Amino acid sequence: MKAVQIHGYGDAGVLRYGDVPDPRPNDDDVLIRVIGSSVNPVDWKIRAGHMKDVISFTMPFTPGWDVSGIVVQIGKSVARFQVGDSVYSRPDIARAGTYAELIAVRESEVAIKPRTISHIEAGTLPLAGITAWQAIVTIGQVAAGQRVLVHAASGGVGSLAVQIAKAKGAFVIGTASTHNRDLVESLGVDEFIDYASQPFEEAAKDIDLVFDTIGGTTQDRSWATLSPGGMLVSITSTPSEETARKHGVQSAFLMIGPNVAALDELTALVELGKLRPIIGAEFALADIKSAHELSETGRARGKIAVYVAQP
Ligand SMILES: NC(=O)c1ccc[n+]([C@@H]2O[C@H](COP(=O)([O-])OP(=O)(O)OC[C@H]3O[C@@H](n4cnc5c(N)ncnc54)[C@H](OP(=O)(O)O)[C@@H]3O)[C@@H](O)[C@H]2O)c1
Repeated sequence: MKAVQIHGYGDAGVLRYGDVPDPRPNDDDVLIRVIGSSVNPVDWKIRAGHMKDVISFTMPFTPGWDVSGIVVQIGKSVARFQVGDSVYSRPDIARAGTYAELIAVRESEVAIKPRTISHIEAGTLPLAGITAWQAIVTIGQVAAGQRVLVHAASGGVGSLAVQIAKAKGAFVIGTASTHNRDLVESLGVDEFIDYASQPFEEAAKDIDLVFDTIGGTTQDRSWATLSPGGMLVSITSTPSEETARKHGVQSAFLMIGPNVAALDELTALVELGKLRPIIGAEFALADIKSAHELSETGRARGKIAVYVAQP
């Protein structure tokens, strides 16, 4: 099969498109013919070696941790799926990834894909969608009427977090720069803050939940926006418990993994018309280098979709 592998850490030039052996599914795996995948920032962080102290990979390895496609084979013990099912997944990061025509994924990491969107759209949802769901709902426990501040509301995770928080009835404030105002407003935010022209903490007050997708000074300056008893959830750096205590708020760091329960929740929202993936750019698998380079700018709009095959 065709796949993209890396043989050593480095810049986007280390991504090599070529022929590799087909995966051999274990008894508890489904073999998926990949149609859509996507690029997430973790892909290039791993490719560049930024995470080698956290996760070790045996070279060469196939990156990519988003897939939507069709089941073409099932292992002996697989009970929930049949050949021909349209499925999606954020598979185990420690196994061969989704920049490939075929991937073997544990049944326990696979969900039926939303019926109302294409494989290309669904292939952009799992990793960012699970992250947004867990931050806003599982950890943030957002309730109707609460005020939620979503940083990078125009990004892959933020664009989904805004819609999930709106679906839960929250009042949502989203940050991005001016050129993304229309996009963020189209997601349904109640207020837009152009972080480049105004300190966001001057505009956002009495927040119940801050979703920090940026870290650094953005996280530092977010504490002041929170109401007593509020919460800051970060996916970029562990917030200081001491600072949280000082502000009378809670904090959490989230690192996601495969999560079928969250995928099923996302599917329900998509099929109700309350959640749609925002695709800002699309690339063929053979052009994955350009997709990584776009993600590394930090300026991507919505998700970066990767076409692997025709439906
Ligand atoms: N812990 C986990 O499990 C987990 C899971 C998923 C993602 N992550 C991490 O979360 C981060 C966000 O992921 P992502 O996929 O959403 O990234 P992304 O799609 O690459 O984010 C790009 C967006 O960020 C916006 N942005 C950049 N700087 C900003 C700032 N200072 N304030 C507000 N918006 C800003 C940009 O808008 P403008 O061009 O308008 O600035 C752009 O639209 C990444 O670091 C990723 O690795 C962690």
